[in-house]
Amino acid sequence: MDFTDQLLHWYQKNKRDLPWRNTTNAYYIWLSEIILQQTRVEQGTPYYEAFIENFPTLKDLATANEDAVLKLWQGLGYYSRARNLHAAAKTIYFDLNNRFPEKYSDIIQLKGIGPYTAAAIASFAFKETVAVVDGNVFRVLARFFGIYEDTAVAKNRTIFQNLANELISKKEPDLFNHAIMDFGAMVCLPANPKCSTCIFNVNCVAFLRNETSILPTKNKK
Ligand code: ADE
Repeated sequence: MDFTDQLLHWYQKNKRDLPWRNTTNAYYIWLSEIILQQTRVEQGTPYYEAFIENFPTLKDLATANEDAVLKLWQGLGYYSRARNLHAAAKTIYFDLNNRFPEKYSDIIQLKGIGPYTAAAIASFAFKETVAVVDGNVFRVLARFFGIYEDTAVAKNRTIFQNLANELISKKEPDLFNHAIMDFGAMVCLPANPKCSTCIFNVNCVAFLRNETSILPTKNKK
């Protein structure tokens, strides 16, 4: 089995059951990803539930007043996330006839949506084969493949994005993206990764060279 099949196999047995994974509603997926930027799953989940209860459709969010949106955001911090979310909801509802853009290249045009979030929405909601690249993905790929390029240097992101786009399952891009995220969050941890029980320990460059503590490289000052 190659990296992708092994990872998918692991995911099938170990996946976290998270509320935004039981939907292909782009609005809900987008909401979850914005909340989960700089916020842990345990902290973010109640906010996600409150948002979809108060604003069950994109129209509800787009036509809400900003104070109501910011009030629900209270406690999460980084309020620009909420303001951008609200602004982009208005754009979709009023300028795009309430049609959520379906392609990565269109999704990324929206306010507050970068490469990571656009890839998450495009793959989870629309099954586009575009890989998510976040801290988890940097870590898993840098360690397994022995990639030493500094992940703090913006242009090196391309190396990881291209590799992840090659590895992603063409049949199940959504599952691959969830899987690599969970693997990074549950096994290939930043500190004290669970190498002794890891499915990849026979092939992982970082494990074999005893370099899990130096990979991924984060040097840029
Ligand atoms: N962190 C950011 N996005 C996530 C997701 N979709 N599932 C779990 N953790 C996440």
